[in-house]
Amino acid sequence: MRAVVYEKYGPPDVLHLEEVERPVPKEDEVLVKIHATTVNRTDCGLRSAKPFMTRYFTGLLRPKRRILGMELAGEVEAVGAAVSQFDVRDEVFGLKGFGAHAEYVCIRESAALAHKPAGMTFHEAAAVCDGPSIALACLRKADLREGRSILIYGASGSIGTAAVQLAKYFGAHVTAVCNTKALELVRSLGADEVVDYLQEDFTKNGETYDVVFDAVGKHSFRRCRRSLKPGGIYIETDLGFMWHVPALALLTRWIGDKRVTLPIPKYTKEDVLFVKELIEAGRYRPVIDRTYPLEDVVEATRYVETGQKTGNVVLTLNGVVR
Ligand SMILES: NC(=O)c1ccc[n+]([C@@H]2O[C@H](COP(=O)([O-])OP(=O)(O)OC[C@H]3O[C@@H](n4cnc5c(N)ncnc54)[C@H](OP(=O)(O)O)[C@@H]3O)[C@@H](O)[C@H]2O)c1
Repeated sequence: MRAVVYEKYGPPDVLHLEEVERPVPKEDEVLVKIHATTVNRTDCGLRSAKPFMTRYFTGLLRPKRRILGMELAGEVEAVGAAVSQFDVRDEVFGLKGFGAHAEYVCIRESAALAHKPAGMTFHEAAAVCDGPSIALACLRKADLREGRSILIYGASGSIGTAAVQLAKYFGAHVTAVCNTKALELVRSLGADEVVDYLQEDFTKNGETYDVVFDAVGKHSFRRCRRSLKPGGIYIETDLGFMWHVPALALLTRWIGDKRVTLPIPKYTKEDVLFVKELIEAGRYRPVIDRTYPLEDVVEATRYVETGQKTGNVVLTLNGVVR
């Protein structure tokens, strides 16, 4: 099968297409023929080995697993003997840690895999897994409900566009911060208020929130502290300069009445099913910036690494966009 392979850490050019052996599903696995996948920030971090710490999981000197790619949508091609939830030709979507930048991938049936939402194309379905899973892990820390307020910084990114829709679903009053070109989009996703960060510094307008969620790892607790109500929570997605965020998360457990948290997302079937339900109820939609054929993975990756994508960047295989 064709797959995007990398043998060493480095810039996007280390990625190249290669013929590799097609995987064979184990007893409890499903073999998925992939029609669409994505390039996300985690793929980029693993490929460039930034932060360095990622090498402890992916291989100290060179990558142990040669195929990246987390999100996938496609059709079941074969099932292991013990698989009961999926059948050949089922249309599925979901995510795993690696291996989706290829024509086929094996995934455990108990992993983050579900039947594709009704009425959704494969390329849309590939873009509704990673962002919402991370956003859900973060928002669960926020106790969102009616009467609670949240400011989402970086609302135009993959995690940000998911967080706006999920926070709204949970009943919170949502203020979304993004640049001018994304204002209409985030309003359409359900934001009650929008702040254009090119025109206004939200930390100086006197407004306060129960939760401030930095969905793009570009802000800081120090600068946001005054925008939090007493007892407020600051949620981060990044380790921060010199890994200060985990240290702050520990410190603020004991000092002060405002808390910092850095949730570690787990990709689960429950979350994928939850998002599927929201999609089918018309409460969640994918945001796709650009779509590239798998062959253009280097170009797609370069674009993701500009840090300026709106929502998600999709790769399609075999020309399938349905
Ligand atoms: N915790 C985890 O496990 C985990 C996993 C994956 C990723 N992450 C982290 O989560 C963060 C977000 O990931 P993502 O995939 O959602 O990012 P993304 O989609 O690449 O975010 C890009 C968006 O952020 C906006 N943005 C860039 N700089 C900004 C700034 N200074 N202020 C406000 N908005 C800005 C961009 O809009 P503009 O046009 O305004 O630039 C763009 O729309 C990253 O820092 C990533 O490292 C964490």
